[in-house]
Formats: sequence, structure tokens, C-alpha cells
Amino acid sequence: MNRVRVSLAERSYDVVVGEGARHELAAMVARVGSVRQAIVVTQRALIDAGWLEGLNCGLPHEVLTVPEGEAAKSLATVETLCSGFAQRGLARGDVVVALGGGVVTDVAGFAAASFHRGTAYVNVATTLLAQVDAAVGGKTGVNLPEGKNLLGAFWQPAGVLCDTEMLATLSPREWASGRGEMAKYAFLAPGDPDASLLDLPLDEQVARCVALKAEFVSADEREGDRRMILNYGHTLAHALEAAGFAEGRGDLRHGEAVAIGLVYAALLARRLGRIDDHRVELHRRVVGAFDLPTALPAGVDPERILSFMARDKKAQHDLTFVLDGPGGVEPVRAVGSADVLATLAEMKVDQ
Ligand code: GLY
Repeated sequence: MNRVRVSLAERSYDVVVGEGARHELAAMVARVGSVRQAIVVTQRALIDAGWLEGLNCGLPHEVLTVPEGEAAKSLATVETLCSGFAQRGLARGDVVVALGGGVVTDVAGFAAASFHRGTAYVNVATTLLAQVDAAVGGKTGVNLPEGKNLLGAFWQPAGVLCDTEMLATLSPREWASGRGEMAKYAFLAPGDPDASLLDLPLDEQVARCVALKAEFVSADEREGDRRMILNYGHTLAHALEAAGFAEGRGDLRHGEAVAIGLVYAALLARRLGRIDDHRVELHRRVVGAFDLPTALPAGVDPERILSFMARDKKAQHDLTFVLDGPGGVEPVRAVGSADVLATLAEMKVDQ
């Protein structure tokens, strides 16, 4: 088993990666303290797939389900979960186990953050995307009609289990979703970006990504500056998702949107004189090697995308992008909308 430590003083925790990591759940729950009961939050499909059979929390547990899909990331789901916790007598010293992909870890994590003003939770991540990204880092939350992830809390899990055996049943599109984040890490790792991560055994691929994420989170838990780098490729990705390309036209998975966002960020960095043609080509090559799209989906309205980007960036009050440059990938503030639009026009479009 690979163990990665997320070092955050008294909020530090382990991410255990490997085949069968889910069997470490009882030991991880025991480390939370004097817990009397657990509530497992998951989805129907994971129960039907048999992943709860033999799941051992080491103490009595009950199961609550949340619906599938991004629409489940709502305040209504959190309210239903918290009512379920209350009806089952979950105490502040007990534990929530979030077993699923990013939707489950985000809503269950936020429900745990809010219930009794903070109840411990453990993530058992079942998708590649959750293992390399969503389950680690402590950002929990839900969407509002006005935007994605607008409501949430920084609430670190007590531990994370990334069982690579559970990835065996993922669909090709779900693999692509996780690989988009992996392609991002290829540009954040020391040295020249390439796709050699894919040559490693799967558990090492996941562990390498988690180790990179842990480094950024440990350095900047609440995303003051350094952690923002983890959003590389995400500004366009979030705008495409908000504009409906994730669940309607184009049906992009998150990682596919990130892949397109990485190429966009490279073109924007070139426009701003930060990188050259060779580096842009390298972005296309690496993203392509992860078997991900590099062109915009057809039907993108640039002005609409710009307005979603501006909304996504409200926290910073200006258009801040994470861009490659001579000193590596870093946040770049106050990017002009003319450059943003001109770069969108430069992108190849998928026909
Ligand atoms: N939960 C994902 C993150 O903290 O980045």
C-alpha cells in the first residue's frame, strides 16, 4: 500500500492508495477516536455493484444514499443528509464515511462539516477523479443556481482510502475524467511535462498525483495563492461546465473540460508573451497522450464563456488565470477580457 501524508498540523491525515485499500476502513475510523457509530453516505449504483458487501467500519453503521449526477450537489441534499444523521442519533464524536466519487465526497463532506458544527468524515474514493483530486484537500461544498461550488467549507477528512481495485468497473469516459486531472499534474510536477506517469502501475500513478496534491494543500490549505495552482486548466473548464457543455451539448466530462482548459491556458500564456510555440505544442502533445480532447466543443459562445469565467473568479475580483511561464505555472492576475476572447477565437473547434 502507498501512504501519502497530508501535513496540516492537528488536521494532518493519511491517504492510503492501493488494491484493497478499502479494507483499511476500520483502522482509519478507529484513529478518529472514541466513535460509537458511523453513517456511510453513498449512491445506489455503488450498493448495486456490491461495494458495500464486506465493508467494515469496525462499529455499527447505517447507510444513506444521495442521487447520481451533479444535480445532487445541492443544499437540499445536504439538508436531507443532516436530517438523516439527526434521526439516527449521530453525535459530534461519531463519523461519516463518504463512499463514492466527487459528488458524494463533496456533499457528504459538507454535511459533515456542518452537522454539529463539524463531525469527522473519512473518504473512500471510488473514481479515478475522486482518488487523484476530489477526495483529498478538504474543499467540500455544493452548487447554487448562480454557480458551481459557491457554498462550502474547508473541512479536512480524517483520512482517505483510494482503492484502485474499485476502478475496475469505471466506464472509459470516467477514466477520461480522472486523466484530465492527471494531465494537469504532469505540468505541476518538477521537470519537463510528459505523459510518463502513465507508464507506472496504476496505484503508483494515483499515489504520485495524491502526493503532488498533498504538497500544495499542506503549503496553502485555504487557497491563498500557492494552492490556486491546482486550478490549472480549470478556468475554461468551469466555464464550459457552467455553460451546459457538461450535461447537455457536448456532454463533456470534468477531466475532458480540464484537458481543453489546459490547451487554452497555454495559448493564453503565449498571447501574454509568457511561453513560446514549442511550449504550446508540448501542452497539446501531453494532453493528447492522455487520450483527451484539445479542441473546443462546437457551439461555444465566447461572450457567454467570458461571463462565466468572470463569475467563477468573483473571489478574486478580477480575471485571474493560472498560467505557464518562465518560472513555471503560477497565478496571473488582471488578465484583460480582450486577450481572453482572442484566445478563445484561436482555439480549434471540434466539428
Ligand atoms: N476536495 C477537493 C479539494 O479540496 O481540492
